[in-house]
Amino acid sequence: MNLPIKLGVASASAQIEGGNLKHNWNDWHIKGHIKDGSNPTRACDHWNRWREDIDLMADMGIRHYRFSIEWARLEPENGFYDGSAAVGYREMILYMKGKDITPLLTLHHFTNPMWFEEMGGFANPENIPVFLKFVAYAVRTFGDLVEEYITINEPNVFAVQGYYAGEFPPGQKSATTALKVMSIMACCHVRAYQLIHQMREEMGHIGTKVGFAHHMRVFTPVSSKSAWHTTCAKTMAWLFQGALTKACLTGRFSAPMRKYIEIKPGEYSDFLALNYYTRSTVTGTKYSTKANAPVNDLGWEIYPKGIVSCATKLYETLPRPIYITESGTCDNNDTFRSKYIYDHLMALVKSKLPVSRYYHWCFTDNFEWCEGESARFGLVHMDYETQERTIKDSGRFYMEMIKTGLIKPEMLDLPN
Ligand code: BGC
Repeated sequence: MNLPIKLGVASASAQIEGGNLKHNWNDWHIKGHIKDGSNPTRACDHWNRWREDIDLMADMGIRHYRFSIEWARLEPENGFYDGSAAVGYREMILYMKGKDITPLLTLHHFTNPMWFEEMGGFANPENIPVFLKFVAYAVRTFGDLVEEYITINEPNVFAVQGYYAGEFPPGQKSATTALKVMSIMACCHVRAYQLIHQMREEMGHIGTKVGFAHHMRVFTPVSSKSAWHTTCAKTMAWLFQGALTKACLTGRFSAPMRKYIEIKPGEYSDFLALNYYTRSTVTGTKYSTKANAPVNDLGWEIYPKGIVSCATKLYETLPRPIYITESGTCDNNDTFRSKYIYDHLMALVKSKLPVSRYYHWCFTDNFEWCEGESARFGLVHMDYETQERTIKDSGRFYMEMIKTGLIKPEMLDLPN
């Protein structure tokens, strides 16, 4: 079957770059919160090895790359910008473009500089202009090279994990604060959307595209016959993702989202960016994984149909081209990753939704936040000790689809 979707790969700066930077995940590591004790200052040493990584990407036929810039590297102190970091990223972007790889640039992917964290980060509405100042800096610095932007990665995961579950920095456990953070980030997205467009236009550039990367799941009741479970599943979906979808895409803030600055209803996304991994089964006020369902190495249910239902919800809110900006799985031995990719792509192809891009999460195995180096999501295996990169079988399967423009079940049995 023809594969009408362009295949790319995704990453995030703090997960691959390494380097002893003053950001909140380095601090979180020092405080002992990484399960395997590994350290983001090592990761894939990509800051020194990006040429090698981009060469490998290009050799694999990959022509679309989603990555992020590290705020703490570019602005290590409030108002002080490190020009050498900017030069480094510019070289990197020029190098990938030279290899015919189109960049999709994420401006914020989970990490805050410590100085911003200490000011209250996204829990303080007075910091909205501080984030926007960084956005303006990024556009001034990279706006001539990059057309496509993601403002913020997964405001809901950032807010829930950091301020409700206490699993991410700053480790708080308050539902009220988590909802506040999500709302403030939605305000930041809308303003950043406007700012990027305005600045690029003033710079004389056309073709600007801006979106935010939304993490969505399917929330399904443990029993559809139970009105209680069904109501709880709907409520959870609304609180975790529905209200945020509406606020970020249309500027309409409905409870529990709140506007912290003046925002007019409008259209605040040029493409729909979906990060999809799994489904959650809801039993009353708790959720977990469906009994006997296929799961990945982190116990997340593998549920390919869900990628279509989540993309459909976005499309119904604002009809725009769909980019799957993350999809992938933790499969430490690379035994089911190819099938996972195949099933998710096939679900999308059969859906007839206007999906134009699919960015596999991720390119190389990397620093998987709380799980550290122990959870592998890459198409390329990382030996963290030697820093050797080796293409996995799933990577070869991906290359074959890119090379042929086809998706076929026989491709799943590619020889080594
Ligand atoms: C995040 C990635 C993360 C991936 C797998 C996504 O929610 O954006 O940074 O590595 O999930 O957990």
